[in-house]
Amino acid sequence: MNTGFNRDYLQISDLRVSFDGFVAVDGVDLVVLPGDLRFLIGPNGAGKTTLIDAVSGLVPATGSVQWAGTELLGRKVHRIARLGVGRTFQTATVFENLTVLQNLDIAAGAGRGVRTLLRKRSQVPESVTEVLATVGLTELADAQAGTLSHGQKQWLEIGMLLVQNAKLLMLDEPVAGMSAEEKDETGELLQRIAADDRTVICVEHDMDFMRAFAASVTVLHAGKVLAEGSVADVQADPRVQEVYLGPGAHTAAEVEAVMGEAH
Ligand SMILES: Nc1ncnc2c1ncn2[C@@H]1O[C@H](COP(=O)(O)OP(=O)(O)O)[C@@H](O)[C@H]1O
Ligand SMILES: [Mg+2]
Repeated sequence: MNTGFNRDYLQISDLRVSFDGFVAVDGVDLVVLPGDLRFLIGPNGAGKTTLIDAVSGLVPATGSVQWAGTELLGRKVHRIARLGVGRTFQTATVFENLTVLQNLDIAAGAGRGVRTLLRKRSQVPESVTEVLATVGLTELADAQAGTLSHGQKQWLEIGMLLVQNAKLLMLDEPVAGMSAEEKDETGELLQRIAADDRTVICVEHDMDFMRAFAASVTVLHAGKVLAEGSVADVQADPRVQEVYLGPGAHTAAEVEAVMGEAH
């Protein structure tokens, strides 16, 4: 029965991760709906990467992570991936010696044998061609992945998630080290992906990038959610300004230098 309600949303409740008694994620509640482009920001060590690790099954956690009505905590990494949950890493993890197309082919064909994978394909599947265009790498399909720029490698990684038909995409600082032009293209790519009814979480440090492309923002600090809302909401929040600028009163110019114009 089609109720007209898309159940592919992420609901995190009381998520906790500790490393030898050190609590890196400390009771996080978070709901992200399809179509959202949620930025997860916060100072270094806030627990952003650890949160993504917990959702993708890479670190043990307590609490609950429900994706499309299924509990993810306690499941193995590959099972979680098969449920349509994908993530990228701060350092791109593409196969440098293979072409762009081969990287996508391997990602798409997790079920195919090695021999089939390595055989040169006379025809590229339409789904792969579409993804090549979506991530803007059509012209570079036959280029060796190792020769791509840092930005292009991030796009290839995003493409690898798309050919796997990931519906929840979590990106860890995708624009670090990108040129201004690459950042804009990445932001537009993430907006297109979200508009395609996928759920996108983008961990970022880059405040300009966040301001330009976030649909909504969650600020993490010391493992806890400090603030949540629109870009303007979090920029205007004195607690958010304090974690970025240090305690005490700040002049409007100081705040603007870090947070940008709130209005
Ligand atoms: N495997 C680990 N073992 C011990 N401590 C860790 C581990 N991973 C992360 N941490 C600690 O957890 C905290 C949060 O780290 P992280 O999630 O990487 O922060 P962020 O991505 O927000 O910069 C940091 O204090 C970090 O040192
Ligand atoms: Mg991190």
